[in-house]
Amino acid sequence: MDVTATPEWAALAEHHEALRDRSLRDLFAEDPDRGRRLTTRAADLYLDWSKHRVTDETVRLLLALAERVGLRERIDAMFRGEHVNATEDRAVLHVALRAPAGRPLVVDGQDVAADVHAVLGRMRSFAERVRSGEWRGHTGQRIRAVVNIGIGGSDLGPAMAYQALRAYSDRGITARFVSNIDPTDFAEATRDLDPAETLFVVCSKTFTTLETLTNATQARDWLLTGLDGDQAAVACHFVAVSTNTEAVRDFGIDPENMFEFWDWVGGRYSFTSAIGLSLMVAIGPEAYDEMLAGFSAVDEHFRTAPFEANLPVLQGLLNVWYTDFSGAQSHAVLPYSQYLSRLPAYLQQLTMESNGKSVRWDGQPVTTATGEVWWGEPGTNGQHAFHQLLHQGTTLVPADFIGFGEPVHDIGEMHDLLMANMFAQAAALAFGKTAEEVAADGTPAELVPHKVMPGNRPSSTILAPRLTPGTLGQLVAFYEHTVFTQGVVWQIDSFDQWGVELGKVMARELAPALTSAEAPELDQDPSTTALVEEYRRLRGR
Ligand code: F6P
Repeated sequence: MDVTATPEWAALAEHHEALRDRSLRDLFAEDPDRGRRLTTRAADLYLDWSKHRVTDETVRLLLALAERVGLRERIDAMFRGEHVNATEDRAVLHVALRAPAGRPLVVDGQDVAADVHAVLGRMRSFAERVRSGEWRGHTGQRIRAVVNIGIGGSDLGPAMAYQALRAYSDRGITARFVSNIDPTDFAEATRDLDPAETLFVVCSKTFTTLETLTNATQARDWLLTGLDGDQAAVACHFVAVSTNTEAVRDFGIDPENMFEFWDWVGGRYSFTSAIGLSLMVAIGPEAYDEMLAGFSAVDEHFRTAPFEANLPVLQGLLNVWYTDFSGAQSHAVLPYSQYLSRLPAYLQQLTMESNGKSVRWDGQPVTTATGEVWWGEPGTNGQHAFHQLLHQGTTLVPADFIGFGEPVHDIGEMHDLLMANMFAQAAALAFGKTAEEVAADGTPAELVPHKVMPGNRPSSTILAPRLTPGTLGQLVAFYEHTVFTQGVVWQIDSFDQWGVELGKVMARELAPALTSAEAPELDQDPSTTALVEEYRRLRGR
């Protein structure tokens, strides 16, 4: 279906024109109750979407669009385990990873729910053994450091969540995350670690990823160098998380020490699979289970709540509204929590690898803009850096503000000041300050235009009681399903990532030209050829 050819799309385009001259100031003046009315709850999340450039009619039209594209059927199909990942002919069942035990879910003849809970059981017992000191290193020492080696979806989820949930972690065990093939990453992550006390968790869905296998090989060398070259040490210092048992065995990790997941879990949706193992070791199985329960609560909300009260559906449709009707190209995520400093990076993969597509699932080119550029930083740091552009720049950037009622650390009035900043930023973006108001402050006339704040800049505010494993799970599930909603409207496969393949192949082909002792015969474009030559000169080759 070409969504842009539907009557619902045309109605939205017409409505957008009609709404063009009504600002957020106007909309709030027309409905003083808007700040309370246009809010929705799911589990512990409170979403204020009143500061969006929408009316009840906009929402009605967006919901009609959702019906037209069959969003309800697509959600049901995903939860049933149908192959909604069309280009890879796979089910998309990250929701099964956090569904409560005891509910069979048979997909392609296999009870995947039973498989999930079997692996979760092994993870819990392993995590307990490491945390209690029962699992020892080769020389009999306790494990004090867990180094997760993985990249993309095999890194960002646990790395983000470890940062977010540090207050819940066992401070006697440090977790590190190595992802980049830049040797700096490995060197810095291990420089102060003792091999005798270090456990590597090698995470790779495919177990073929160059970065991860290179880092894992380096880790094995580092370990063996530190432990007198005794190969037997690998067994108690390496575990793997993967779907590829053969490759894990070939690497030299006993499949007994492998935690399995399945091809129906997309890489960027794998955080709640065994990919979360290093996080589970850090925060413990109980807190990890609370996190899974948080995910599950929002999964159920997404599956069952009527669209007009469905947080991910509403937010996803609002994102479509700005991307396709207002020409927004980017989306800022602004967590007012230092603990969530890696959330923007996590969401970049989730959103941009999922919805950065220009071909629909039926193979036809899209006829409208798709995925936004996602970016952000924790507040208040961003305020002193890029908020200038958000307030007065020429680009429309819808933003998500994320904050909590209770701080994890309650120190004086600091949390209240943090939250005052968050509320103030959202209000300043929405309502701005007119030339008259600026002049009324006694501003010299020549400065008035510089100080005018145009306002009418939309944002969502997401409030939760406290940053806990449970609310973190809710938040991430909210974003996963927002991405799904947008993908369905755009009729794109949000679960493949063919666009990353070409660069990987080219890097593999190019590598020998950089490393060979002899000057290579280069069959590259002129720019790449010149760069390789210059690089070889810098390396003295
Ligand atoms: O190259 C992109 C990608 O395939 C991501 O989708 C994935 O999360 C990442 O690489 C890592 O892949 P793997 O877990 O197979 O090592």
